[in-house]
Amino acid sequence: MNIKSLDIIHDEHRALAAMLSGLRTIASNIEAGRLKPDYDLLETMVEYIDKVPEKVHHPKEDQYLFAKLRLRSADALPVIERLEEDHRQGEARINALRAALANYRQQGEAGFTGYYEALKTYIEQEWRHMNTEERELFPLAKAHLTVEDWAEIDAAFLGNQNPWEGAAGEYRALFTKIVNMAPAPVGLGG
Ligand SMILES: [Fe+2]
Ligand SMILES: [Fe+2]
Repeated sequence: MNIKSLDIIHDEHRALAAMLSGLRTIASNIEAGRLKPDYDLLETMVEYIDKVPEKVHHPKEDQYLFAKLRLRSADALPVIERLEEDHRQGEARINALRAALANYRQQGEAGFTGYYEALKTYIEQEWRHMNTEERELFPLAKAHLTVEDWAEIDAAFLGNQNPWEGAAGEYRALFTKIVNMAPAPVGLGG
């Protein structure tokens, strides 16, 4: 069965994964002395992560998918609760990354190690989170949600009143801006 809302979540995960892997590539090139830091670019990438996954993607998962699955499967409760806890920590996690970046910008080279460590921690938390959703939660949702449940969830994800839809153009524009700023092989910038 092809489920629209799960496809949307998966696409959003891929966009976030691309951003995270771009940040990792840039940082490792800086570490190797192949690249000078472009702080504006690094800040724009953090802004994207904050605006899209933290403010839009996670709340949508909580409100529709997790809420429905909670009603249908007691087996799913432990994994739902772990994922919700990650969502609650989301703001503190992105703030830690932002603070490390601000410190790097202020201190220059001396702040790099702290920034790189904070970035690796953030990436590892997000990877674990997305993998748990795709490998543990998606199968439970597919097993326990009814056709009517999916119709409701899909409608919420695709509906015009959904803030995600209204704002999608803006987020795409931000994504394009990053691709144009970022140096190869991450983006198309110089
Ligand atoms: Fe999530
Ligand atoms: Fe997610």
